[in-house]
Amino acid sequence: MDIFEGISTKLDVREFRPEAVPSETKQSVLEAARMTGTGLNTQHWRFILVEGRDHLRKLAEDSTSGMWVEGAGFAIIVLTNPKYSFHLIDAGRVAQNMQLAAWNRGVASGLFTGIREKELRNDFGIPKELNVTIVVGFGYPARKLTDGKKNRVPLGQLVYYGKYGTTA
Ligand SMILES: Cc1cc2nc3c(=O)[nH]c(=O)nc-3n(C[C@H](O)[C@H](O)[C@H](O)COP(=O)(O)O)c2cc1C
Repeated sequence: MDIFEGISTKLDVREFRPEAVPSETKQSVLEAARMTGTGLNTQHWRFILVEGRDHLRKLAEDSTSGMWVEGAGFAIIVLTNPKYSFHLIDAGRVAQNMQLAAWNRGVASGLFTGIREKELRNDFGIPKELNVTIVVGFGYPARKLTDGKKNRVPLGQLVYYGKYGTTA
């Protein structure tokens, strides 16, 4: 898939078909994560691959805004090191790359940030020095995604030319 096409057709999905995602696709998503750049190339992040309905249910129970992850094919918990001021930027970049790598193989995804921190750390053995930054859930979308139909404001409201406030 062309990269721009991937960006423009990808939607965040929260309902998935029950069919399993091949492990080759999961590896491709993890490789996309590994290939993503970090500030100062620190590569401070760590990823927990969550598979199996019971573990995904546990992950859902530990969330406040991602209960839908119970129905995902798999999920990845993105941990970053808050000692780096840019760690949240790194997390956003890696989440998007993983989502695009998945979408390239027809696998949709959604993400959430609302977690019950104490419970999630305990259930997944997460050390205190790492921040639980994003959880991404992946799977085949339950419904056909309507290509390009995104709820976005037009560029005219977003872009200034040369100086803030100058519109073309
Ligand atoms: C920083 C960030 C935090 C988000 N947190 C959540 C979340 O907690 N739960 C959730 O279901 N979606 C979450 N989302 C997904 C957004 O709701 C979604 O990206 C947005 O609605 C656009 O979706 P679309 O690309 O399908 O149009 C988050 C997205 C971002 C970028």
